[in-house]
Order: sequence, then structure tokens, then C-alpha cells
Amino acid sequence: MENKKYYITTPIYYPSGNWHIGHTYTTVICDTFARYHKMLKEDVFFLTGTDEHGQKVEGKAREKGVTPKQFVDPLVAELKEIWRLLDVKYDRFIRTTDEDHVKGVQKIFKALYDKGKIYKSTYEGWYCTPCESFWTKTQLVGGKCPDCGREVKLETEESYFFRLSEYADKILELYEDNPEFLQPRSRMNEMVNNFLKPGLQDLCVSRTSVKWGVPVDFDRGHTVYVWIDALSNYITALGYGSGDERLFNKFWPADLHMTGKEIIRFHAIIWPAILMALDLPLPKQVYGHGWLLIGGDKLSKSKADKVSTELTDPKELVERYGCDCVRYFLLREIPFGSDGVYTNESLLTRINSDLANDLGNLVSRTTAMINQYFGGVLPERGEQEGTDAELVSVAEGVYGKVQAAMNALDAPAALEEIFRLIDRANKYIDETTPWILAKDDSKKARLGAVMYNLAECIRIAAVMLKPYLTVCPDKILGFLGIDGESVKDFDTVKEFGCLKAGAKIEKASPLFPRIDIKKETAEIEKLVLSRKAAEQKAPESHKNEDIKPEITIDDFAKIQLKTGLVLTAEKVEKSDKLLKMSVRVGAETRTIVSGIAKYYTPEEMVGKTVVVVANLKPAKLRGITSEGMILCGEDSEGKLTIVTTLSEIESGATVR
Ligand code: MSP
Repeated sequence: MENKKYYITTPIYYPSGNWHIGHTYTTVICDTFARYHKMLKEDVFFLTGTDEHGQKVEGKAREKGVTPKQFVDPLVAELKEIWRLLDVKYDRFIRTTDEDHVKGVQKIFKALYDKGKIYKSTYEGWYCTPCESFWTKTQLVGGKCPDCGREVKLETEESYFFRLSEYADKILELYEDNPEFLQPRSRMNEMVNNFLKPGLQDLCVSRTSVKWGVPVDFDRGHTVYVWIDALSNYITALGYGSGDERLFNKFWPADLHMTGKEIIRFHAIIWPAILMALDLPLPKQVYGHGWLLIGGDKLSKSKADKVSTELTDPKELVERYGCDCVRYFLLREIPFGSDGVYTNESLLTRINSDLANDLGNLVSRTTAMINQYFGGVLPERGEQEGTDAELVSVAEGVYGKVQAAMNALDAPAALEEIFRLIDRANKYIDETTPWILAKDDSKKARLGAVMYNLAECIRIAAVMLKPYLTVCPDKILGFLGIDGESVKDFDTVKEFGCLKAGAKIEKASPLFPRIDIKKETAEIEKLVLSRKAAEQKAPESHKNEDIKPEITIDDFAKIQLKTGLVLTAEKVEKSDKLLKMSVRVGAETRTIVSGIAKYYTPEEMVGKTVVVVANLKPAKLRGITSEGMILCGEDSEGKLTIVTTLSEIESGATVR
């Protein structure tokens, strides 16, 4: 096969922190396409990274009392950890604070200036700080930012401008000559009607009020405004402007810029115009995918918290369900190019129905039967009959159908094709009823053929799944006794029958656990709500400033805490606050009076393990001598919760 090259990029991310599953969408798709093209034996370069400059980062760092770099470093580390957990394998992770990028941007800015494409003037415009975008009055929607709907403010400052207005016709021409340039088609109409036909205005490309940016090296009061800085990453990552342009010469122009639909204007108008001004080739294609929505709203950095009780943190989702489940959901559930809705229930339903039921069952049933009927040794394919030919044709057709879907950039359709084979194979089990064949010795050869066909379908499905899921395909191939690469690549799935009879088949352990969706969603809801409650009202009294003066370990050692078992409990007469309890503390039984009657009934307390301050001077409460105190947590509203141990422990044990 021709060793083609393939260069794919995700837009780089703001290091916002508060990462949510929507943030992973573009990059997981790109990782999948990169893996797919690597499996086609193409020379792939896959780029992602972080966009770290700008007013917003500067402001947040100031709030925290750190430098912008100190602010972004840990967030970048978090994002890289998310990519590790999701098995995203990039070829370069570029940071716009990387030295080579900064130098590259300075060269690009100067080159544009020298060519007369950038000039100095004064800017007045409506600025949306969260989006780092200037808008003209006519672009505002109801006086607010047309992208995010938030407040904008009028700002004036000396700025450099890029002559974007010269490019409207050239970009229209680009779209006309290359109808594939911007996909899906609807995005092209949007650009043409909303931006290009009304005419483009020159673009502000430097700031004097923002210090956290790439300095314009020939006019030090200015920093490069974020979009020229950010967009240039696609070429600086390949060494453009660095003196070593081998990667640039090899991989540029990019085959695909994959971005969310809200930043299409930057990728399909501004970026091509900058490249035209630099006399550089244009990317071959820009794809504007849809959003992951929660409750009908884009799952955005700022809204993720408010919206609902869904668990959206990608790290937590991967830790809970595994990387394959999260990747599968992202790639399968959201119709490509359109928006999709994210709920925990939709994720769990996908896991159960497609992964645990369809795929998991097929693999476990088949490998279990081969072990039961053939001692775990794959039988000969033998004579074919009945629906075998149809099964084989579905299996042999998958490669081409997946290829067509991937060429159309439609990952969900590709997965649908693979799962069509999985469904067909499950149906084949019901049609051939191997458990009945197994009862009749004369049907042994037929039973063998059925087992062979199933195992081969599973192998083909597993190989085809490799770009999408990164853990289970190899596991499945392992169960089929395949460890070498020879039957693991795309060349082996176009024709049925690569699997060798005699292979040792292992009885598969469950690939995906079936989840009790009702229980799990209830648990998640509880978890998210309790977290939100804790975040919202970390009351003054619980803040660290309120902590009492430091004590030494010797001071602490004066307090003797012991576990106690509540033997009896009763209300103290004429008091609605107090409970009188007899508490066994090791060998002795003490009377303890505690102010917990509003929160616990006497019946609830009996049998509970509590923590007792055992050497507290006895005190009289309502005429009763209390020989110790029970520890409780007190929330901001004064509600008490007794402190107990996580597992059973004898009474009288020391607590420290
Ligand atoms: N840093 C800019 C891009 C600069 S490009 C040179 C940026 N960053 S972002 O963090 O806001 O978004 C990064 C990517 O994540 C974008 O493609 C964006 O569309 C995508 N998503 C962020 N939230 C999303 C969803 N809720 N759903 C799907 N993708 C979304 O824009």
C-alpha cells in the first residue's frame, strides 16, 4: 500500500480546569482517525495541545496570586492525564507557551507585517472576555456575545490589524472550488451567509492591555492577540519558522482540522486568510462537529456545574467505567456533525446494550462453547451451509463499509457497521443452535464449522474495533489465541478465514460488567448533589482561617479518645436536646449525656459504635453526671452527625 501521510489536528484547549466530557470529544475523534489511518499504514502526525495565553488566564492567575505560567502548568498536566486515561496517543502536545511556538508566532506576525498584511490602528469593539472575542455591534445578539450569550464591554485601544477584509472573495472562491473544504455542508452555508457575503472586517490581532501573550518583537508594548497565536500552532508544531522545517515540509498542509462548530469561523475564514497572506498551502479539510449537550445546553466549562446531576468529569468516568466505555459513547452516541445529548443514563445504556450485551455476550458465549465442546481448541472451518454464506458476506463487507464511513468522517456510522456484524453473529448463534448440535455426535463437524465461523467473525470485529476502542480488542484477540500481529491488521479482515484451526481459545472473562442502571444513576446523583452542596456552602466556620492555634502532639496526647458501644439510650426528662446513654467503653460502662436528641432517637443510638472523649472531667447535665462526651460532626446549620468507625471494632479501642 502507498505510504500516504495524514496530518490531523484538534483545536488546542484553554487550560480552564474543570474539564468535562465535552472537552474530550474533538480529541477522542481525532485520536480515532489517527489510529485508523495508522492501521492503514499511513504515516500519521496527530497534534493536540493547549492554548495558554490571554486575558482570561491572566485574570485567573491574578485572582489566585500566582503567575500565569504557574496557573496553567498544573492544568496542562491534568489535561495530559485525561488524554493518558482515554488512551489518546498524540504525536505532539504543543503548548502556546512552548519556546518554539512563541518564536514561530513572532516570525509569522513579522512576516505578515512586512508583507503589508498587518497595520497599526485603534480598535473599538465589544469584547467578550470568556470567549476572548471582539464583536461589532451588529454581530451582538440582544447586546450580548453571539457565541456564549454573556455580557460584552466596549473597549478601545491601539492595535495591529490583519487585512481580513481583503479575503472574503478569495475564501468564497476557495469554498466554490473545494466543496469538501468545510464539512458538514451546513457549516459552509453559515459561513457564507453570516460572514462572507456581508463582507469581512479587518481583524484586531494585537493587544496592549493584555501582557500574558506572545510579545510582538518589533513593538514591545503589544502582545499577539490570541487567535493568531492559537491558530499558528498548527504550523509551528511542525517546526514552521524554527529553522528545521522537515516535519512542516512533510506534513503540511493538514489533511484535517477537526473542531467544534463554535470555532469554525476561526478555522474556515481567519486561518485560511492568514495562510493565504503567508503564501502557504491551505488545509485540505475543516470539519465542524456538533456539541455534547446536557439538558439541551452546550456542556461548557462554565455551565457544566450548574446544569444537572450528571457526572461529567472525564477522569471519574474513565475510572468508573473504563476508557473503552467512555470512548465508545463519544464515538457512537453523537450523530456526527450534529449535537448529541449526554446523560449518565445514555452512557450506561450504551455500555449495557452494545458493549456488555452484544459484544461481551458474543465473545463469552462463543469462547465458552469452544471450551465446552472442543476443549478450547478451534475446530476446522469445514463445510459451509445454511446462513453461513450470508454471515461471511456481512463479515467480509465490514471493512469496505467502515472505510466508506471513515472517508465521510462518520465514526458513528463506522461503529454501526462493526456492530451490525456483531448482531449478525449473535443471531447466527440462535439460528444454528449449537447446544442442540452438541447433543448429536454426527453433527460434530457442523458444530465445528459454526464455532469456527463465530470465532472468525469475532476476530474481524475486534480488528475493526481497534481504532475506536483501545483495550478490549486486544483482550478479545488474546482470548482467540492471537498474539502476533499477523491476524490483527486490516489486511486480514477483507477475506474470511484467516484464523487458524487448532488455535487455543481461552474462555473469556467478562469484557464489560453489566451495570444496574437505576442503582448506578441514583448513586451518581447522590454523589454529585452532595459534592455540589459541599462546594456551594463551605461555610465560614469551616474555613481554614477559623482553625484554632496550633497544638503539639503532646497536647493532643492529653486527650484520650476511645470507642464505645451504646447499650441503652433514653430521653432526658423535660429536655428536647439531651439523650442519656449507657456506653460500654472497654471493661467499664459509663453514663453519658449528649445533646443529640434532635437528630437521633434512643432506638437509633442503641448498638451504635461511638467515639468517646474518655478522660473528660465529669459534668452534671440536668442533674445527671455525664462521664465523657460523644464526638459529633456539626454542619453549618448546627446539625449533628455522630462520628463512628467504618468497620466494626471492639469497644474501648484507642482512637488517635
Ligand atoms: N482554545 C480554543 C481553540 C483554539 S484553536 C486554534 C478553544 N478551546 S476550548 O477548550 O474551548 O475547546 C476545545 C475544543 O473542545 C473545541 O473543539 C470545542 O468545540 C470542543 N468542545 C468544548 N466543549 C464541547 C462540548 N460540550 N461538546 C463537544 N465539543 C466541545 O476553543
